[in-house]
Amino acid sequence: MALHTRRLGPDDPESVHVASRRLGTEAFGAWPSDRTPPPLPVGDAWPAGVAMWATFDDELPDPADPDGPLMVARVRTHDYTSWFGGASVPTTGYAGVAVTAEHRGGGLLNELFAASLVESAEAGAALSTLYPTAPGIYRRFGYEVVAAYDTVEVPTTALAGVRPSPTVRTRRATPADVPAVLATYDTWASAQNGPLTRRGPLFADAEKLLDEVFAVTLAEEPDTDGTARVVGFASWDRGSGYDLDSAIEVHDLVALTGDAARALWRVLGSFSSVAGRIRLHTSDPDVTRLVLPSLAWERAAHHPYMLRILDLPAAMAPRALPVPGTVELEVADDPVGLLDGAWRLTALDGVAAAATRTGAASGDLPRFTVAGVSLLYAGAQGTANLRMAGHLSGPTTYDALLDAWFGGRQTHVRDYF
Ligand SMILES: CC(C)(COP(=O)(O)OP(=O)(O)OC[C@H]1O[C@@H](n2cnc3c(N)ncnc32)[C@H](O)[C@@H]1OP(=O)(O)O)[C@@H](O)C(=O)NCCC(=O)NCCS
Repeated sequence: MALHTRRLGPDDPESVHVASRRLGTEAFGAWPSDRTPPPLPVGDAWPAGVAMWATFDDELPDPADPDGPLMVARVRTHDYTSWFGGASVPTTGYAGVAVTAEHRGGGLLNELFAASLVESAEAGAALSTLYPTAPGIYRRFGYEVVAAYDTVEVPTTALAGVRPSPTVRTRRATPADVPAVLATYDTWASAQNGPLTRRGPLFADAEKLLDEVFAVTLAEEPDTDGTARVVGFASWDRGSGYDLDSAIEVHDLVALTGDAARALWRVLGSFSSVAGRIRLHTSDPDVTRLVLPSLAWERAAHHPYMLRILDLPAAMAPRALPVPGTVELEVADDPVGLLDGAWRLTALDGVAAAATRTGAASGDLPRFTVAGVSLLYAGAQGTANLRMAGHLSGPTTYDALLDAWFGGRQTHVRDYF
């Protein structure tokens, strides 16, 4: 094998993009018959906010182009920003990871990830996230599971007892309501850890929300000046049929108040005579479990979401930490060498957070694995659990401060990629 890994671009010959698409189809199956594949990313058709890398074996010919080397692995990345600690953090989302069937198990991902993670960090990504088909594939690159995209099912009959709110009204959204819907999502998402901000090139069509779903239902309550204020929304598809097997598919149910949540679930429950289930995409446990505690709630699908920090200063800079202080720590054994060394994290008066590298690891400071510092940053685990699992060792001096800095928000994701 004579391997080389490189970034693909819009000027690559069409045969390279055909090979990448073939590898994707081989790994994930043919494009569904009811959806049209996007154009090959050649020239102007290159999608904004997307990067691609591929590993080639120069000793093997591409069957479709004998003059070109065989593409043996590929990955696509998406430019996102996501909410952590109330800050919008540059995030590169990895997707479409594939190795040719005959070359699997040969360690080709090491080369592909080493190159693409370093270049993604250089391009400004603070974090990398992905939905693994199996988490074990990515742990060796420093990723760990911080959240999950779940599909849960609630029988519509269980919603019959949801009482109406005296103040919240529901109505169907119109195009004029889209900015209020997006602002409601912002309010909710910025209070969680993990959701994408839904800004940037990959969400350029966010304003066309109403074209993409059957309906968006709003929950509104009166504002002090007599106007109505949007306090929640549900975007949903009706699905087919009108019997117990029929399900209403809810893509987003965002509520800023308990009354808004009850009002939206009541609308969904009104389908009980024609649909057996509500299928909701969320991160379980959804807060609805607290608002409507007696609802039966079954998980139908579970997609873990993994994260690793790529650039600690870039990950810290946007965050405002709630307690002033300074923490000295070190990160060891980063498989791609991005985080190794000693670091000083500072928070000045609850405003600016910063991370600066202070030198090589000495062994005297609290010592994190890459997954450990990533889990802490995401608010997915506290220091006690990281110590228990072997992701943090050494002095406990800063444990309470680190827990105060990074804890307190639930991890959530709403966009699968
Ligand atoms: C997943 C895939 C990219 C891995 O390719 P690969 O060539 O086996 O990867 P590598 O040889 O570089 O790494 C294999 C490592 O991942 C682990 N791994 C691979 N598949 C795994 C699985 N299904 N579950 C757990 N671990 C897995 C192996 O244990 C191995 O670790 P080790 O080196 O410690 O033994 C390849 O199997 C593939 O293309 N699968 C179909 C598409 C897919 O699932 N893509 C992932 C999308 S998130």
